[in-house]
Amino acid sequence: MPHITTLPLIAPELLPQHLAVIMDGNGRWATQKGLPRTEGHKAGVASARLVVEECQRLGIGFLTLYTFSQENWKRPKSEVAFLFDLLVDFITRELPVLEKRGVRLAVLGHFAELPFTTRKVLQHAMERTAHGTAMTLNLALNYSGRQEIVDACTAYHAAHGSMKGLTPETLANYLYTAGQPDPDMVLRTSGELRLSNFLPYQSAYSELYFTETLWPDFTPAHLHEALGAFAHRQRRFGGLAEQGKH
Ligand code: IPE
Ligand code: IPE
Ligand code: MG
Repeated sequence: MPHITTLPLIAPELLPQHLAVIMDGNGRWATQKGLPRTEGHKAGVASARLVVEECQRLGIGFLTLYTFSQENWKRPKSEVAFLFDLLVDFITRELPVLEKRGVRLAVLGHFAELPFTTRKVLQHAMERTAHGTAMTLNLALNYSGRQEIVDACTAYHAAHGSMKGLTPETLANYLYTAGQPDPDMVLRTSGELRLSNFLPYQSAYSELYFTETLWPDFTPAHLHEALGAFAHRQRRFGGLAEQGKH
């Protein structure tokens, strides 16, 4: 892997403002090496740390990492427990760095159903980083995109006493990502070509990027490859191509 500073520069205006990542393939990475799946999750944490650091260094304002889906509770109890322990370790270890770099931590998903220690550690980290302005790091945790839409409708109704005035824009104010730009790109590793209930409302016009690379093998160099591809995409949002763009 080349050292980060040797990676080519991408013009800041061609970078996504919000990058969303489906970190997939940890289990397969471990199995291919004859290791237990948990080793893949451990190695995946190292990839996540480098990607967070590189996104912040590049000035990407919002990074969302799909960390645990509501559907992931279907996995063996021991794997689920391991994942939450890893998360607690990661947040505890990274908190000083996140704070120093001005990274604000947020959680997208049903927080109250997370294990007690996970909630305590996350709550503390969110409070400590609340004033960070360099980047927002969203962890999609116990997250379901369909549930998010239902929750937004419920919250809208509670706030207005009816569904009057509901539009795609007003509903967006009740999503977990209220106030944040939609992801410009959704990136998924490990060769799976699906979104698995990740940000269905917000990704309506996101650029999709899929790579065969398994998440534990994903480096800042791979990230730059993806960002380079994004810089060449022509987004139209249903209109006509902008003249002279790219
Ligand atoms: C992604 O890797 C991590 C989580 C879903 C928590 P997987 O654990 O899904 O790895 P594969 O897809 O089984 O290889
Ligand atoms: C999506 O990956 C969830 C996360 C990366 C946290 P999965 O591995 O759970 O998705 P499916 O089951 O292959 O669709
Ligand atoms: Mg998977």
